[in-house]
Parts: sequence; C-alpha cells; structure tokens
Amino acid sequence: MFHYSGADLYCEDVPLADIAARVGTPAYVYSSKIVLDNYSAYHEAFADLPHTVCYAVKANSSLAILALLAKAGAGFDIVSGGELFRVLEAGGDPSKVVFSGVGKTADEVEYALENGIHSFNCESDAELELIDALAARRGVRAGFSVRVNPDVDPVTHPYISTGLSEHKFGIPIGEAPAVYERARRLTNLSAEGVSCHIGSQILDPSPILEAVDKVIALAGTLRGAGFAIRHLDLGGGLGVAYRPGEQTPPIRDFIQSLHARLRASGLCIMVEPGRSIVGPAGVLLTRVLYRKKSGSKEFVVVDAAMNDLIRPSLYRAHHEIIPLRRRNLPEITADVVGPVCETGDFLARERRMANVFPGDFLAVCTAGAYGFVLSSNYNSRPRAPEVLVEGAASRVIRQRETHADLVRGESL
Ligand code: LLP
Repeated sequence: MFHYSGADLYCEDVPLADIAARVGTPAYVYSSKIVLDNYSAYHEAFADLPHTVCYAVKANSSLAILALLAKAGAGFDIVSGGELFRVLEAGGDPSKVVFSGVGKTADEVEYALENGIHSFNCESDAELELIDALAARRGVRAGFSVRVNPDVDPVTHPYISTGLSEHKFGIPIGEAPAVYERARRLTNLSAEGVSCHIGSQILDPSPILEAVDKVIALAGTLRGAGFAIRHLDLGGGLGVAYRPGEQTPPIRDFIQSLHARLRASGLCIMVEPGRSIVGPAGVLLTRVLYRKKSGSKEFVVVDAAMNDLIRPSLYRAHHEIIPLRRRNLPEITADVVGPVCETGDFLARERRMANVFPGDFLAVCTAGAYGFVLSSNYNSRPRAPEVLVEGAASRVIRQRETHADLVRGESL
C-alpha cells in the first residue's frame, strides 16, 4: 500500500509529497487499508474458532485508528484508564476489552468496572484482592485471568521480552494454580481465563507455540479443579519486517498453525496484537534540512528527531528511510540525525541510502506502531500531526501541536 508510482511514493492512492506539502513535516501518515487488512487477517484466520482479536491500544492509540478497528469489530487490550477512555471515545465495545498491566490503580479498576469491561489480566494476589473489594462495593462480579509467565525465551530485544522468570510480568506458571485456589474465596471475582504474553517483535513463532502449549495444559488443570475457565488470552508479539527481505510469519499462517491445539482446548481464544496490525501501516515523513560532513562522516540532518520516533535511539531499531521522490543517483552512506541536542538523536546510522538534498522529503518506514505514542515534547518540540489515508482521500486525524499547546496547563 506504500508503493512508488513513477518516481513518487504513494500511500494507497495519495502521493505522500502532497501530504507533506499540505500538513508540513514531521508528520505521521497511516494507511487505513493496511490496518484493516491486518486486523482481518487475524479475524479470518481464526475462522470458526470462537475468538476475539483485542488490538493492543498501546501500539497506536489515536482515536481514528481505534475507531477503524472498533467498526471492524475488534476488541481492545488496554493497560491504563487513559487507554480505556480512548477506546470509549472511539466507539469501542467495553465488553470486548481486556485490561492488562502489572500496576493497575484503584481508580483505574473502578473506571473499568463502571464501564463493564470483559476481564482483567491479573498479575498478583494483591491485585486480585483489590479488584474483588471494588467489585463487591459495586455489587458486580469481575472476570479475571491470571497472566502467567511461561518461562520461554521469545528471542527478541531484551527491553521488549517479557516471558522469562526474571521479568516483572506475570506469575510463574507453576505457581498459578495456587493463585486461582486462593482466589476462590474472593466471591466477587470469577476465574474466566488464563493469559500470557511473552514479548514483542517475535520473528520466529515457535516460542509462542511453546507458551501456548503450557497455557493450554494449565487451563486443563484448572478446569479439572472446578474452575469454569472459558478463554485463553495468548497476548500479542508477532513481529513485522523492518528491513527489506526480513522474514516474518504471515499473520494467517501463524494463527492457522495454532488451530489444531486451540480447537482441541474448546476454549474461546483472545489475542492482543499491536505491532503486527499497525506497524507496517505507518510512515513518518520528514524533510532534509542540511547535509553536513564531519571528517569522513556524512550527516543528513532532518526535521524529525528522537522525540518524534524514539525506537532507533532506544532499541537501536532499524527503520528503512526512503525518498518521497526517487532520483537516479548513486547511493550515499550517512547518519540520519535530528535537531535534538543529544548524540543519541538519530534515525539511522551508517546507512546506505538514497542521495538526498536540503528540501527533499523522506519517509521513515514501518513507524505505525510505537511511533507517535512514544513521542514527546523533548526540546520543546511540538508533537507531529497524524494523517489517515483511505483510498484517494486523506484527512488530518491529529493536528500538529502549537507553541500554546506546549505550555497548556502550566503556570508561572
Ligand atoms: N499485550 C501485552 C500485555 C503487551 O505488553 C504488549 C506489548 C502487547 C500485547 C502488544 O504486543 P505487540 O503485538 O505489539 O508486539 N515499545 C516497544 C514495544 C513494547 C511492547 C510492549 N508490550 C517497541 O517499540 O518495540
């Protein structure tokens, strides 16, 4: 859906240079078709297996993106009261919302109970007790799953790996039955599921399959002990191709590979994909400000920075950077850096890339997930606008921040 036609890079049927000219740079642009196709790939691959695809809101929480998915029938995986607010504003169905996270506050739990979410993915005895007490006060029963830590290595970046016993997430799978047992006396809770999530940007799905087997076995044990376990929540984590030619498991194949074991379990299946739905759907547009040489090093200074897209600085993540208008010139090797005053402010290092000149526009690819949501006002830089493309139409779904926005809520 991002493709060159002649020399120009398009998102669906819209030349990206038109958007850059209209809204300026830096700017995020998303293809609604890619978002919806990826959601459908999950939904359709489950076919007749009872399932809910709970999009992980943290990956990209813009209202218009959430609204697209809500309309398509998605559920949502949230990790804060703020994310629940966004889902509701976007028209999402609270009865398809699961609430994950290791540190839910009482206010957040109350807000979720008030809105009748589907269930809580719980990570400690203390959290179960809190939810039980708040549900009792409200006179309701809250559904819960224990998020178990299956102790498998997802083989990904250490900052986004979560399923090993050394991580803060979940309850060791061996201890989970005792947690469910202790929760029996919490009469405003009902044990409805088992959940896990082992990490993100997973390129080889075999660790996920290993975790799924362990979680299915646990659900069997719990049912044997009289718990009415109805669903398995397998988390998110499927990776996307950030580099040309990088092999990722297609969503459909991945879900189909789970079919036999999931069908035998007889449980409703939930998944919480984020990146694999929105990652490939977005680019960050930026403009070349300067070319600069320092010794033997070449720098391309652009108007997007680590405050707009932190993944390269934080995870050394690779994002392809391509011109909005192709020229027939030999490639260069350069660091692509932004205006922020930190050595860590780069979008690419020692990158073979198109030869570019001041005034040229570039697209930083595969930036739809964990892009805008991780952006900040560091260096008092207003946050970028977001544009949604639908076929030949495009619309601003978030305005560029102004200087007045930067100081909103402050006082002298
Ligand atoms: N469910 C839970 C409980 C999670 O913690 C996450 C992501 C997901 C689902 C969605 O995972 P996905 O399908 O997107 O892999 N900022 C990092 C990624 C952090 C992921 C955190 N948890 C990055 O930019 O790579």
